[in-house]
Amino acid sequence: MKVGIGADINGVHLKDILIEHLTSEGYEVVDYGVRDDLETIYPNVALRVCDAINEGEVDRGILICGTGLGMCITANKVNGIRAAVAEDVYSAERAILSNRAQVITMGARVIGSEVAKECADAFLSHEFSMVGHGKASNAKVERIMEIEREQHSSQPMHIG
Ligand code: RB5
Repeated sequence: MKVGIGADINGVHLKDILIEHLTSEGYEVVDYGVRDDLETIYPNVALRVCDAINEGEVDRGILICGTGLGMCITANKVNGIRAAVAEDVYSAERAILSNRAQVITMGARVIGSEVAKECADAFLSHEFSMVGHGKASNAKVERIMEIEREQHSSQPMHIG
């Protein structure tokens, strides 16, 4: 499995720890920054990783910012991408098994590096299944994708 990983300046340290860990576990990891361009804001890093998933460069993504929230919000704006904040092992596992998320996000100011490694392992070591319990999950994921298609053509009246 090929994994794309990205962080803003607040997540660089955790990103580097996860790259070392996942590489040692045998994953092929592609680093989408930030590295030498520390001014890059999190939405741009999220977009790079999500584009890489949609283009088939990598299979899954892990995005890290201060809270994990901005990365998650951005990733979910990218057509076809399902992203979830996953800062405990159960959520990381369910992100793939229930939600068929291609991306998990984490907050470097929220999660410790050992738990982050376990979350990454839990997410990457499972596959979404369309049979058994997976069948019911798949129907819900299909509905998410349908909503995405419907919403694509509507214009928001209120920006909050
Ligand atoms: C800093 O820009 C902080 O907002 C960012 O790292 C992230 O936590 C956003 O959601």
